[in-house]
Amino acid sequence: MPKTTQNLPGVMMSICLLLILGVATRTTSAQWIDYTANGFATMTHYTLPRDYVAACGCTPSSTHYPTAALSQMAFGSSAAFGPGCGRCFKLTLLNTFLSDPPFYPAESKSITVKITDLCPLGGDWCSATSNKPNKAGLSLNFDLAFPSSSIPDDFFPSNEAFYGYTDFGVWNTSYQVVPCNENWPGSRNQAALGSVANQGPECVCCPAEPTGNINDTCTSYSDKNGLPPDTRTNASEAIYTPRLSLYPALLLSLLYLLACNMAL
Ligand SMILES: *[C@@H]1O[C@H](CO)[C@@H](O)[C@H](O)[C@H]1NC(C)=O
Ligand SMILES: *[C@@H]1O[C@H](CO)[C@@H](O)[C@H](O)[C@H]1NC(C)=O
Ligand SMILES: *[C@@H]1O[C@H](CO)[C@@H](O)[C@H](O)[C@H]1NC(C)=O
Repeated sequence: MPKTTQNLPGVMMSICLLLILGVATRTTSAQWIDYTANGFATMTHYTLPRDYVAACGCTPSSTHYPTAALSQMAFGSSAAFGPGCGRCFKLTLLNTFLSDPPFYPAESKSITVKITDLCPLGGDWCSATSNKPNKAGLSLNFDLAFPSSSIPDDFFPSNEAFYGYTDFGVWNTSYQVVPCNENWPGSRNQAALGSVANQGPECVCCPAEPTGNINDTCTSYSDKNGLPPDTRTNASEAIYTPRLSLYPALLLSLLYLLACNMAL
């Protein structure tokens, strides 16, 4: 869920502390999905405004590069940050399967994304648990932030003459866990790395290069696994000017939930 950073550090801080202290009821005693380094996944897309600070609390500039929300049980938390935050994945479009007939693009297209957001458990695609796959029989869903200034508008292949529409909504993809360095386009821009500075480390976590080591990988926020590594950076505060008022932000979260839950 996108999370906005208003100019209310005090308020945000106490909300975070309350959450950490267990006032939140959105915890799960869930079994997170232990996914392999390579496999198949579904890919959907959702609207994330430029410079928006999403669930992990990654810097606004992260949105200037390809990012995605990962389905909850692979993300590793039901709220805020989880071990999935900051991970980079190379995703390759394979085929559509809801269309009749399925569409196999002539051209092979890939994109490397950084996980900055959580796709809440539910709907058809972010619904996989450790004992039940999603509607496509897969355990992971990547919800790509699209459109994005970093992704060509014609990224998703289509055949409008044949199908009568261009947006298939959901794709079968192959994924590969990749090091962010050298692979994620934003890895060369310090401002796109790390988490926002104006919230405590108990609220945000966005490692530049999570490896699984406790020093560079987020803990599960909803499991209350204690403080994550401090990934706050100073790059963000200087450049971030909130553009969204609370109301559109809430509306956006709702739309996001709907999009995630309604198979687009
Ligand atoms: C996804 O692609 C793989 C490899 O081609 C294929 O085995 C699988 O059936 C496809 N899944 C869907 C839902 O299209
Ligand atoms: C994490 O960092 C601390 C302090 O730098 C170090 O002592 C510790 O060995 C590191 N832990 C791991 C698992 O690398
Ligand atoms: C951010 O700036 C403050 C004050 O200038 C400094 O003390 C702190 O070390 C900086 N933190 C990072 C992560 O650069």
